[in-house]
This record gives sequence, C-alpha cells and structure tokens, in this order.
Amino acid sequence: MPKLIVTTREGEEREIDGEAGLSVMEVIRDSGIDEILALCGGCCSCATCHVHVDAAFVGLLPKMGPDEDDLLDSTSDRDAGSRLSCQIMFDDTLDGLKVRIAAED
Ligand code: FES
Repeated sequence: MPKLIVTTREGEEREIDGEAGLSVMEVIRDSGIDEILALCGGCCSCATCHVHVDAAFVGLLPKMGPDEDDLLDSTSDRDAGSRLSCQIMFDDTLDGLKVRIAAED
C-alpha cells in the first residue's frame, strides 16, 4: 500500500497506509485525523480539504482545474504547494507523498 505522510495542525507527523483509488482527502479522513472537514464531500466546492503539498511532490500531481484554483484563492494561507486534497487521487505513483494540513479559515 502506498504511504501518505501527513503533518497535522499541531505539527505531529503521521504515516498512513493509503488505499490506492481513494482521494488524499479520503485517505486522511479514513485514518482518523479529524482536521479535514471536507464539507462538500469531495465535490470541489468548499476548500475545507486544503493541504500544503511538499515541494518535492508538487510536480508529480495532476494539474489543478479552474474550480480548484478559484477555491484556493479564497483561502487565507495559499502557497505554491496548496491543493485541495479531494482533487488528488492517491495511488502507487504518489507513495511517500507528504502533505501538511492547512490552517483553518
Ligand atoms: S472536500 Fe470540499 S473542496 Fe475538497
């Protein structure tokens, strides 16, 4: 199973066995970390699944669509690694992916 490494808002690093085929948001949520609200359920309409992706992995991710881009613009701490975790499908090619959960807006 590919591994996902998540840093929580408190700075705790957790290594999770992620199920390929789920979104990164779902992998985080299913691990029991409750900092991702994911209010829209993954429909790319809320931005409460915002994460900061480690710079080493940004180029491996699929390009973001205009809706994701607009939603990220509405967040307070967007940076070059910002993505909506519901829009990243997790699979073996992302083994070791590191993300940090964004501050709550
Ligand atoms: S869960 Fe709402 S945009 Fe990702």
